[in-house]
Amino acid sequence: MADPIRIVVTGGAGFIGSHVVDALIERGNVVGIVDSLVTGNRENLNPRAEFFEVDICDAEALAGVLASFKPQVVDHHAAQISVALSSRDPAADALTNVVGSLQVLEASRAAGVEHLVFASTGGALYGDPEVVPADEATPIAPLSPYGAAKASVETYLRMYHDTYGFSYTALRYANVFGPRQTPEGEAGVVAIFTNRMLKGETPVIFGDGDQQRDFVYVGDVAQANVEAIERRLQGAYNVGTGVASSVNEVTRELTNACGFEGIVEYAEERPGEVRRVTLDAAKLTRETGWQWQVGLAEGLALTVGHQKARANRPG
Ligand SMILES: NC(=O)c1ccc[n+]([C@@H]2O[C@H](COP(=O)([O-])OP(=O)(O)OC[C@H]3O[C@@H](n4cnc5c(N)ncnc54)[C@H](O)[C@@H]3O)[C@@H](O)[C@H]2O)c1
Repeated sequence: MADPIRIVVTGGAGFIGSHVVDALIERGNVVGIVDSLVTGNRENLNPRAEFFEVDICDAEALAGVLASFKPQVVDHHAAQISVALSSRDPAADALTNVVGSLQVLEASRAAGVEHLVFASTGGALYGDPEVVPADEATPIAPLSPYGAAKASVETYLRMYHDTYGFSYTALRYANVFGPRQTPEGEAGVVAIFTNRMLKGETPVIFGDGDQQRDFVYVGDVAQANVEAIERRLQGAYNVGTGVASSVNEVTRELTNACGFEGIVEYAEERPGEVRRVTLDAAKLTRETGWQWQVGLAEGLALTVGHQKARANRPG
């Protein structure tokens, strides 16, 4: 096994970040977590990681963590993840997702960090692409302030690379789903519907349910982070399955997995919603051998199983 790497994961108490932490520790690395716990959960914290309860917008505290922990790599997942909130209050979204990310970049540069991984988005960056699955050359055309903020950080990263020789990977995720996801965020439909169906409540589909998404399992996303860090991948990489699934299909699969017997309601489509996007991850596969392993039905069964176990836990 390779030498252990010292890695700080921001957002490591959240859904995706905590799975990334688990995968990195499993590989024998030494991991620190920076998280303000604004949406993250202490229960997600890997006990073998060192935890720093710090807001990424607090430049001084962040610099202190990096100076003491001395990471070689920063894996940046902390973010405001609600697309709807970003539309209501773009400035608040930008404070965390643009300014906070810049604090992470600056603190990393000052601390001599060798490589940074950024949790970007394919789902929100490409808008409604003409060609699907969309590859990394697809024009950037976000339909929400959340997507615009992610695009902006990618621009800064390219500039840091060209001007300072800063090494980075921007991982452009499809709709990530799996255990520990909270009912907000880009792929919230799985978390929200699982939650509602297990409680016997009516799930509501916005629009006709035929909108198509690329659902990628969180364990596969964590593995993409491992590849990005170990190989110091440079630039933007899609992380998705290329498989289109409609919200109606996901609802049917979840109905089976949850044993739900109620009805599903339909409501008016929300503005700014992407109609159809799937991602082509051939570049990541070609350069690292990464392949997604867990398909939609299997992943949904794992998610429902986890949610049931959580609901049945005493206390
Ligand atoms: N879920 C998806 O489908 C998806 C798709 C594309 C990209 N992403 C990106 O992946 C990353 C993780 O998303 P997630 O779905 O796991 O969300 P999450 O809300 O579960 O995780 C975000 C974590 O960041 C922390 N955080 C938020 N603001 C912070 C701040 N100012 N300082 C310190 N910590 C802060 C939260 O407490 C939380 O633990 C985000 O950058 C998100 O934009 C997610």
